[in-house]
Amino acid sequence: MSGQISQDLNLAVEILRAGGVVAVPTETVYGLAADASNPEAVKRIFEIKCRPASNPLIVHVAELNALENWATTIPQIATQLAARFSPGPLTYILPKKSHVEEMITAGKSTIGLRIPQHPLTLELLQMFGGGLAAPSANRFTRVSPTSAIDVQSDLGDQVDLILDGGRCEIGIESTILDLTQSPPVVLRHGAVSQEEIEQVIGPVSTFNRAATASPGQSKLHYSTQTPMVRVEGESLSVFLRNENLKPKKIAVLTQEPAPKRLDNPNVTWLQLPGDERELAREIYKRFRDCDCGDYDLIVVTPAAESGIGRAINDRIHRASRDSI
Ligand code: TXA
Ligand code: MG
Repeated sequence: MSGQISQDLNLAVEILRAGGVVAVPTETVYGLAADASNPEAVKRIFEIKCRPASNPLIVHVAELNALENWATTIPQIATQLAARFSPGPLTYILPKKSHVEEMITAGKSTIGLRIPQHPLTLELLQMFGGGLAAPSANRFTRVSPTSAIDVQSDLGDQVDLILDGGRCEIGIESTILDLTQSPPVVLRHGAVSQEEIEQVIGPVSTFNRAATASPGQSKLHYSTQTPMVRVEGESLSVFLRNENLKPKKIAVLTQEPAPKRLDNPNVTWLQLPGDERELAREIYKRFRDCDCGDYDLIVVTPAAESGIGRAINDRIHRASRDSI
């Protein structure tokens, strides 16, 4: 039964209540879920993912009222944001209640909380009743899974069940907003853009990679096994003419259409969707496909740096070596 792909919610609840680990679909990426009030179950998440204990987990709940079970205060801006974005791809960092397992918050005084939007997982949460701690269902540092099959190929029989909710609608992880700071800080860009947040609560600041050493912000998160480099679109043709690359088999991931003539037979041009929402939905799948292909190098060009494009570029940045 281990690692089985299923749509059986009753079975999923039964496994979770017994302290098991179930991969669940969300609108962003698949999560690796366990009962947030069961330390043994939460410990298994860290073991399966090979995740350092210093990296805290998000707790997923079914509804707004349930945030109070985990956070000491729900500021008014959280309520305002929730009215617009929850259920959905926005995670709130709030001061945690004292009963919350140390392991979940990695010893921090704050907790990440999210109400996911996927109907199957929302129903699961309602049936389960409590909170589900769930990081993305990939092995530590690897690309997040956006389908049940992705989870199976990464974590296989280490999970007790994989709940199949189809391909993830959004395709990249939630936006993380720290509401314990003033102004609030976007710790991770995601599907809810900074602009959309600011329309509701006014100016927010963004996380400064250089200044803080929060584990989830580490570089070479979400990375492919095949080396990946990031090249600005306008430098791509010059880059590909580099003599040193000639013997290498290269996959090019870019929104640009393929040139009429590709001088280098070792280059495979894989055009990405022009629409940024579609691009977000596909980017991890494309990374995975390239990894399965017979390439020595993946070359990727960034999206426009606005809206969800910021989140896409963040993931590209973390998956790639230094830009050229
Ligand atoms: O879309 C998502 O957020 C997915 C789905 C499954 O919900 N989950 C996800 O979880 O991406 P994970 O664990 O892969 O990333 C959560 C990030 C980590 O980088 C972690 O460091 C950060 O959230 N985080 C969690 N709790 C935090 C806290 N109290 N303070 C600061 N960062 C926190
Ligand atoms: Mg993750």
